Amino acid sequence: MRETQTIAPAEIDRQLALCDEIRARLDQTPGPKHAYVDTYGCQQNEADSERLRGYLARMGYAFSDTEEGADLVLLNTCAVREHAEQRVFGNVGALSHTKRRHPGQLIVVCGCMARQEHVAERLRRSFPYVDLVFGPQLLWKFPELLLQKLTTGKRVFAAGDEPGAVAEGIPVVRQDRVRAWVSVMYGCNNFCTYCIVPYVRGRERSRRPEDILAEVRTLADAGCKEITLLGQNVNSYGKDLDLDVDFAWLLEQIDAVEGDFLVRFMTSHPKDASERLFDVMARCDKIAPALHLPFQSGSDRVLRAMNRRYDREHYLGLVRALRARIPDIVLTSDVIVGFPGETQEDFEQTLSLIEEVGYDALFTFIFSPRRGTPAEKLDDPMPKEQKSANFQRLVQRQNEISAQKHAAYVGRTLRCLVDGVGHDGKLSARTAGGRLVHLDGPEEVIGTYRAVRITGSSTWALFGDLADEG
Ligand code: SAM
Ligand code: SF4
Ligand code: F3S
Repeated sequence: MRETQTIAPAEIDRQLALCDEIRARLDQTPGPKHAYVDTYGCQQNEADSERLRGYLARMGYAFSDTEEGADLVLLNTCAVREHAEQRVFGNVGALSHTKRRHPGQLIVVCGCMARQEHVAERLRRSFPYVDLVFGPQLLWKFPELLLQKLTTGKRVFAAGDEPGAVAEGIPVVRQDRVRAWVSVMYGCNNFCTYCIVPYVRGRERSRRPEDILAEVRTLADAGCKEITLLGQNVNSYGKDLDLDVDFAWLLEQIDAVEGDFLVRFMTSHPKDASERLFDVMARCDKIAPALHLPFQSGSDRVLRAMNRRYDREHYLGLVRALRARIPDIVLTSDVIVGFPGETQEDFEQTLSLIEEVGYDALFTFIFSPRRGTPAEKLDDPMPKEQKSANFQRLVQRQNEISAQKHAAYVGRTLRCLVDGVGHDGKLSARTAGGRLVHLDGPEEVIGTYRAVRITGSSTWALFGDLADEG
């Protein structure tokens, strides 16, 4: 067991005092100061941005929804696929114009991309107007790094080479009052051969259960209705702590917290998902009947090359064990098409796995080589066109399956959380399993659980109306 590094509370207090110092500096020029925060990537990054906003609010910034005219622009970036990185470089490029119009604008690039040396180098060379660059392990130190920029006037580059620590007490500005993210652990130890995350997010480290439970209680008391627990592999929660705890135990503790809320969690790695976890999910009323269980490939040969450490049979066994306990479980997954060396036969096995499982929804990705990962160097003979054709086939088949699954909801009345206004001014809601529902109704019902009659469906969503109204 490795001991997880904790940032001392006094250190976070010091960062908060530095926020106040920044605020005093900003107050020397008249008028309110605005920050624009742009978040890329996964929920972990969304959760990080809420903490960065917490620090920014303490510094006195209000928030704007455009970079134009903002006094500070922060891009919290993602490195998981090339496309994500290209978008960020495109947007950083465009900031040269906004900065020209507003020369005092501070530009901050942080998150997973910023942790990579070659990215920092490119930002240094090609984007001279970027003021501060720091990796995710240094989030807790953002005030200190920003103040360093402000006092020296020099650009600051801080990758954060350390494996990472856990910091409690950073202020949070949440984006949603109905639903909230709660990180239970950070980092990843799994080193799937295609994946950049362990390199940019550092080693697995768990928050202490009392800190997680205190956050959940605060959210429940504030009327939050849905809490999503986050970690790259929540099933290894607690392994680094000096306590005899695991994720299933943590779920039980959270289930016992008073309040009317549902708990979701992601992501579960199939090598660590256990029947014990499924038992707890089945037993605990507050745990949503939904599981995101990425399989990545249906071929054992590819799974081995990916270093996933389970095989197809093990995966299918998990699905059977789960459905035996929770028959109406909503199952979602991630899959990669075109991993280097994947043959047509391997791909057919992926297709047959999605048939066999029947996912409610699938997140499909074409393999994207990531610098410094083992898969980057593997032979990749399959032509791009073939990969695209396979990808299209997979997406099309999954769309049919999703549409069938959704059609089966029509006629049912389900307890749903109304969480906002979606497109066309319709309300949006989620079933307990997490399926999206569009419905008509008054905005006052946002933030409440309502009985919703499902009247229609599509590939992506359900349609319905309030069953307890009129
Ligand atoms: N930790 C989670 C897991 O193990 O499933 C998710 C990590 S990642 C943020 C989300 C998904 O991106 C992965 O499940 C995988 O399908 C996909 N992904 C990661 N690296 C990729 C790459 N190099 N190319 C294409 N897809 C990738
Ligand atoms: Fe990446 Fe694998 Fe870790 Fe998920 S478990 S973050 S896919 S290395
Ligand atoms: Fe992207 Fe980092 Fe998440 S690489 S997917 S933002 S952990």
